Amino acid sequence: AKLSVRDALRVQTASGERVKVQGWVRSVRSQKEVLFLHVNDGSSLESLQVVADSNLDSRELDFGCSVEVQGQLVKSPSKRQNVELKAEKIEVVGNCDPKDFPLKYKDRPPLEYLRQFPHLRCRTNALGSILRVRSEATAAIHSFFKDSGFVHIHTPIITSNDCEGAGELFQVEPSSKAKVPEENFFDVPAFLTVSGQLHLEVMSGAFTQVFTFGPTFRAENSQSRRHLAEFYMVEAEISFVESLQDLMQVMEGLFKSATAMVLTSCPEDVALCHRFIAPGQKDRLEHMLKNNFLTISYTEAVEILKQASQNFTFTPEWGVDLHTEHEKYLVKHCGNIPVFVINYPLALKPFYMRDNEDGPQHTVAAVDLLVPGVGELFGGSLREERYHFLEQRLARSGLTEAYQWYLDLRRFGSVPHGGFGMGFERYLQCILGIDNIKDVIPFPRFTHSCIL
Ligand code: 4AD
Ligand code: MG
Repeated sequence: AKLSVRDALRVQTASGERVKVQGWVRSVRSQKEVLFLHVNDGSSLESLQVVADSNLDSRELDFGCSVEVQGQLVKSPSKRQNVELKAEKIEVVGNCDPKDFPLKYKDRPPLEYLRQFPHLRCRTNALGSILRVRSEATAAIHSFFKDSGFVHIHTPIITSNDCEGAGELFQVEPSSKAKVPEENFFDVPAFLTVSGQLHLEVMSGAFTQVFTFGPTFRAENSQSRRHLAEFYMVEAEISFVESLQDLMQVMEGLFKSATAMVLTSCPEDVALCHRFIAPGQKDRLEHMLKNNFLTISYTEAVEILKQASQNFTFTPEWGVDLHTEHEKYLVKHCGNIPVFVINYPLALKPFYMRDNEDGPQHTVAAVDLLVPGVGELFGGSLREERYHFLEQRLARSGLTEAYQWYLDLRRFGSVPHGGFGMGFERYLQCILGIDNIKDVIPFPRFTHSCIL
């Protein structure tokens, strides 16, 4: 029978069954009478030990080559695994010349070095673990929402609106070779989506609780450790919410249950990151999970920052956006417990956020969640569900014409509602302790870089 490495390693009592295992060679060690191979197929962090007779032809067996091994699963004398594969036949499927292969046997290369090889780095323990965690976290997020009664919606990738109004759009046009009857394919300018929120609002007006989890795009000229031009966002939209607190409960619930699921579904992969990439991260994560998240208002946050203004390059001031350095300070100030910052100045936020009708410091019901190591992880708000308020906000932004359909939602059975978006890569950075966002996505896209 053909077995994955993971399934082979799970065999408890090996009674000599004949199996076939395929994968890539992670190490070759030959002793006088035996040859040891470690074979990995990405199904688990651990590789399967293969033991062969040393008179077997091993000339082509090199670190990195692909192999098919047939033999018997037997009890392993090693304490590290239950079983090993006693090879009867080893076939090299594809050679690999270790002289030219950029990955080196017995190396724990820095993530920064590996970034040069997006086509090969997935064969290392580090990227293997990170990307398996990414896969498990995706499933965990879907199951959190499913268990909470949300309907999953595929929001469009190509759209004619700029949800965030920040102008960081990639425009979509057919290539010059495309055969399009009209000059302009969609008749209107079209863009890659920056957020599925507005489409989710449409759907929350029918399904009450909805979510989407897909790629979003921003042309931000920001060479930072937490920005990408293409990133995945988890977004939820909920009808009949009464307060920001209702939303914050879902945000905290999502973070904590998805993380708990990941910790049980791939503990070895998480442990590898916590042990070798981000020492101390295990305790930092436990600290986040066992404490209730905190809440402060934007106005309180600015007061806290002003007390410490000597620490900053950018002077904190009411009415100005928080900088990364401010976010990091606030999280430290809160004892490295994630903190919700609520009620931001109306002037800083997009047209859709609900007016708090306060003053003279006029705010909207917005919420950001700041987390250790990353800063802003979630952004969300109550939405302006009152027709006349929204009409005025749209008029002030010059958007009335384009958003008639959005106003319609406030004419036909409007309800108080709200939602949020969580940057998926930032979530992975936060739980695993990965410093650079480019290391938690298989193929990072950012300014001056679109390799592969
Ligand atoms: O705060 P943002 O811009 O919020 C929205 O787009 C809302 N429309 C979401 C909603 O309410 N449905 O983005 C949400 C999150 C941020 O908090 C951040 O974690 C992440 O998306 N994010 C990025 N992640 C990586 N690279 C970028 N360039 C990002 N921009 C935002
Ligand atoms: Mg934001």
